Amino acid sequence: MTDHIQFSAERDALLLLDQRILPGREDYFVCANTKDTIYALQTMVVRGAPAIGVTAAYGCYLAAREAAAGAGWRDNLARLLKELENARPTAVNLRWAVEKMRAAWAAEPNLDLLGLQAKWLAMAKDVHARDIEINTAMGRHGALLIDDGDTVMTHCNAGALATAGYGTALGVIRGAWEQGKKIRVIANETRPFLQGARLTAYELHKEGIPVRVACDNACALLMQRGMVQKVVVGADRIAANGDAANKIGTFGVALLARHFGVPFYVAAPASTFDLSMPPGAAIPIEERTPREVTHVGEHQITPPGVDVFNYAFDVTLSELLTGIVTEHGVLRAPYRENIAAIIGAKES
Ligand code: MRU
Repeated sequence: MTDHIQFSAERDALLLLDQRILPGREDYFVCANTKDTIYALQTMVVRGAPAIGVTAAYGCYLAAREAAAGAGWRDNLARLLKELENARPTAVNLRWAVEKMRAAWAAEPNLDLLGLQAKWLAMAKDVHARDIEINTAMGRHGALLIDDGDTVMTHCNAGALATAGYGTALGVIRGAWEQGKKIRVIANETRPFLQGARLTAYELHKEGIPVRVACDNACALLMQRGMVQKVVVGADRIAANGDAANKIGTFGVALLARHFGVPFYVAAPASTFDLSMPPGAAIPIEERTPREVTHVGEHQITPPGVDVFNYAFDVTLSELLTGIVTEHGVLRAPYRENIAAIIGAKES
């Protein structure tokens, strides 16, 4: 699945498969400017760290198309990039993509606006295409960690939909499946946005990879009964010491995996590492609208006037990780040293 993020030259716009309404309907949302792109990111038309990065890269191009209107296109553009960069706080791929574009602009400050637009569109297409290659490489490395007959649990959706294609955690699962391993997947439903129940189940089922959805709170029972052999999840930001922010509930799954002796892997590309963030406790955690918790669809499930928590992410301590799968191979403890050596060296 790679057609969920498309750049249409004809419409000069970004087309995004609307993940808010999957699996019921397959409709595209059109981003023609920065406002549309920020709206798509914030309402989760598109979500998942690498997909957010790819969208932001195209978003920079759309911002450059828009910047001509009004005096001082450079100032206009700088302001639009700032707004885009702040659309969501946790997934570092958003900032990574915008910074990549800024750096290219800074390297050629005399480019005129048309020149910059052409450069950024080409760069966005490259980020888009590279992401699929990166995920495929991650799948190749990660597949070796999965045994024939394993049942693999995953939390949230770190699949094709969360990337440009193939997926990170689901890339590892796809890699193992493509090697002919007879595996099964447990998709935790992932309250409140239900990325597991709606999106992970949707893409695996479509490809014939056996998947079964479990309520988030079934995790302990399933592990206690020996029904889970591996856990593989994605990440939104990985600190320099290996602490990994991912969808709320991931930390609990990791604690249970440690208790029951189930290997727990994170799969994420180099662009998800934030080496400026020494411990994971400093990673900003997005708080989303209470409505996602108080309502199921149009139906309110909590008494009116009762407050709720809606933290969208938590941070799994690196001591709970069995390994981090990247496009450069599988990183193991000691994470601080190995991340600096592998990711630090590739990114600098
Ligand atoms: O709020 P979301 O749906 O953007 O959160 C997504 C996740 O937590 C994913 O697991 C993570 O971004 C990795 S995606 C390859």
